[in-house]
Amino acid sequence: MKDDFGREIDYMRISITDRCNLRCRYCMPDGADWVPMPQILTLEEYACIAACGALLGIRKIKVTGGEPLVRLGCCDFVRMLKETRRIEKVTITTNGILLEQHLEQLAAAGIDGINISLDTLNPGLYQALTGGGSLSAVLKGLEAALKLCGEKQIPVKINAVSLELKDMARKLGCVYDGPGWPELLWIAKEYPADVRFIEMMPIGYGKRYQSLSHKELFRQLQEQYPNLEKDDRYHGNGPAVYYRIPGFKGSIGFISAIHEKFCGSCNRVRLTSQGYLKSCLCYEDGEDLRTILRGIGNQKEKEQRLLEAIKRVVWAKPVAHCFEHPEQMTENQDMIKIGG
Ligand code: 5AD
Ligand code: SF4
Repeated sequence: MKDDFGREIDYMRISITDRCNLRCRYCMPDGADWVPMPQILTLEEYACIAACGALLGIRKIKVTGGEPLVRLGCCDFVRMLKETRRIEKVTITTNGILLEQHLEQLAAAGIDGINISLDTLNPGLYQALTGGGSLSAVLKGLEAALKLCGEKQIPVKINAVSLELKDMARKLGCVYDGPGWPELLWIAKEYPADVRFIEMMPIGYGKRYQSLSHKELFRQLQEQYPNLEKDDRYHGNGPAVYYRIPGFKGSIGFISAIHEKFCGSCNRVRLTSQGYLKSCLCYEDGEDLRTILRGIGNQKEKEQRLLEAIKRVVWAKPVAHCFEHPEQMTENQDMIKIGG
């Protein structure tokens, strides 16, 4: 369905847990006050919202967290979504730690894309940055995903938050002698996986860290690879701008939420693990769908109310985010509670 500014909203991100097996410094360095399980929706409840969304034009769903693979039944949930009428694409964003062991089940459920969050290829820095994560577990997951997904033509992408890795290593007190962000290009060189750089957004702990400027990052990339080419092929649901480096198997993407506002083509709404449907990362506005789902009335009535609430969220979608004016932001929750 279209929002008030004529944008077609066909993409819903669903966070199925606020739990995570990592403690990324910019996300939840000390864990979080976990939402008690009864307040988190059941997988059937998310599926019911997704089905209502589908009636209104939602065609693509991203399963997120926290870390979605720590939620029991995550792969069954993917299957439920894939069996939902009019849902065309179901993808997942994971930190990759548990990917190897869930991969076959995800593929069997029909997953259409896997995004792996990975900010450095330096094992010591990865461990420090993620509060104890094992880089080798992620790389095993990545390799297994590339193998299986290559056969099935399921895209695998790397998401890296654009960080000055040398500064980060210094702050975290670990030895780092890598080249900084260019180290991640190795993945796109060796594997048919896109590597996407994402500007750090000033949300929660993210406010404490400075994002690398994408202008500067791009300048350095161009300097290093003068025959860089714009890549206009379709890559997915989102706002990334892609480039190809001759000889590389994957493309390089830039998601520049802050410095190249792409709100004009925004196509998404976000459902938190507690069933709150948000229209924008920046503002707290939204609708509490959990209260509808668990309130009085029969299934038909509830579905009717859900449809109306989803429409209200879409219609009230703001024209743009306001990250450049943090004082105007009304969203004060951490990324982990929103779903990223
Ligand atoms: N800004 C940008 N990305 C963030 N992530 C977590 N916090 C932020 C932030 N403040 C990223 C993670 C992961 C994805 C789920 O969101 O690194 O790639
Ligand atoms: Fe977990 Fe992702 Fe947050 Fe890291 S950024 S702590 S992997 S939810």
